[in-house]
Amino acid sequence: MKLITTLQHFLSLASLPLPLPLASAQLDKYAKLAGLSYFGTAVDNPRLYNPQYMSALQSSDEFGSLTPINAQKWKNIEPVQQVFTWAEADAIANTAKAGVGGKKTLRCHTMVWFKGLPSWVETTYSRADMEHILTAHIQNLAWHFKGRCYAWDVVNEAIDDNGVFRQSPMYKAMGIDFITFSFKTAAKADPSAKLYYNDYALESPFLSPGPKISITLAMLRTVKAQGGTVHGVGFQSHLKVGLVPPRSEMASTMQQFLEVVDEVAITELDIRHSPLKTPSTRAMWEQQARDYGEVVGACLDVNKGYGGRKCVGVTVWDFTDKYSWVPSEIPTEGEACLWDNNYVKKLAYWTVLNMFKSAAGVSKRAAVNGTDSESETAADHGVESVVTGRARPVPREEEDQGGGTRTVVATTLATAVRVG
Ligand code: G3I
Repeated sequence: MKLITTLQHFLSLASLPLPLPLASAQLDKYAKLAGLSYFGTAVDNPRLYNPQYMSALQSSDEFGSLTPINAQKWKNIEPVQQVFTWAEADAIANTAKAGVGGKKTLRCHTMVWFKGLPSWVETTYSRADMEHILTAHIQNLAWHFKGRCYAWDVVNEAIDDNGVFRQSPMYKAMGIDFITFSFKTAAKADPSAKLYYNDYALESPFLSPGPKISITLAMLRTVKAQGGTVHGVGFQSHLKVGLVPPRSEMASTMQQFLEVVDEVAITELDIRHSPLKTPSTRAMWEQQARDYGEVVGACLDVNKGYGGRKCVGVTVWDFTDKYSWVPSEIPTEGEACLWDNNYVKKLAYWTVLNMFKSAAGVSKRAAVNGTDSESETAADHGVESVVTGRARPVPREEEDQGGGTRTVVATTLATAVRVG
């Protein structure tokens, strides 16, 4: 099946105009032109040794920011009390600094989380001991990466899906004061970094029918009233295809948070098929593309509403399905990323790129006049019809009806949509 699909893929390409050069695909470049500070990706250390991954990661202007997926987690940074291991996190920081394909900023993740803890933290401490532990951990992280982290996820996921504070060792020792304490300590240790609270299911009440959003807002107000510095809120946005809240709803939730903090960001975006059906269908990829468009559109709308940069950036939680966290944690779900397993860009990729181009005012007319050959690329990939929902007579791939024979009519979409 895979071989047939691959053959069909190449046969279909043979009769087509050649895809436009890679230089036209620059998410970070167009995100910036559309008013964001960056488009970034999360990355984990084993990928740094994969040349194919690195070439996509470093292609010109694609990603303007990196977030370490695991390297800065407590377990990896301070596996033994007061013993700090920096090599993996430094390797990612150095990749950002090296500037191949454009210098990247570093979003740092994460100082205090109930997961990813070393066993020595997973025990009972007095309040005084926990303050001492948090101080040493946060200070060392902040000092080590000072000047390198544009932003820190200081506290991650302190509140569960029902709006209840998680029973982490930090909470058990200090109650919710551990949050203010962490933000205060981070602000003192690195006054120049943007300090974030980061969580999932904050995107809309539709995703958290309980009081998670209102409890989180109240918690942030309390932290600030107690003198803690919180600059931003990260909306992780681990979402499911077909179950993404409407763009307007996500934008209005972000606006609610902007009454409490200065900025928001999409920090861990991926949209998984749940359940993952095989063989996949074109409709699945179109829905995923629309869903990515809703999230990115919400961020752009927030900025329009404020006349400035308030939703500062979008980070995907890795860019290729090859390394997505989803199948290892939720085996029946997946294919959540913008690139597939084979580093082929999906329809969702072109949708996101085209949204940035539209917001940046890159017009088809300019392309025709030869002033911007790049906007043609998005249209060539059939993106317009997906973004706007308008039917457009693009040639299409026939879906496999299960009998094994499938006719690929012809389309440059073959480069964007993986079927099979
Ligand atoms: O490091 C060991 C390695 O030595 C061993 O060979 C391997 C065998 O399974 O496990 C490795 O550790 C795993 C690590 O990922 C690296 O692959 C851990 O067991 C595993 O728990 C860890 O999962 C990470 C998870 O956070 C927990 O820290 C995922 O990669 C990572 O994508 C996920 O990211 C979180 C964000 O930090 C917060 N928001 C939700 C998001 C998704 O769950």
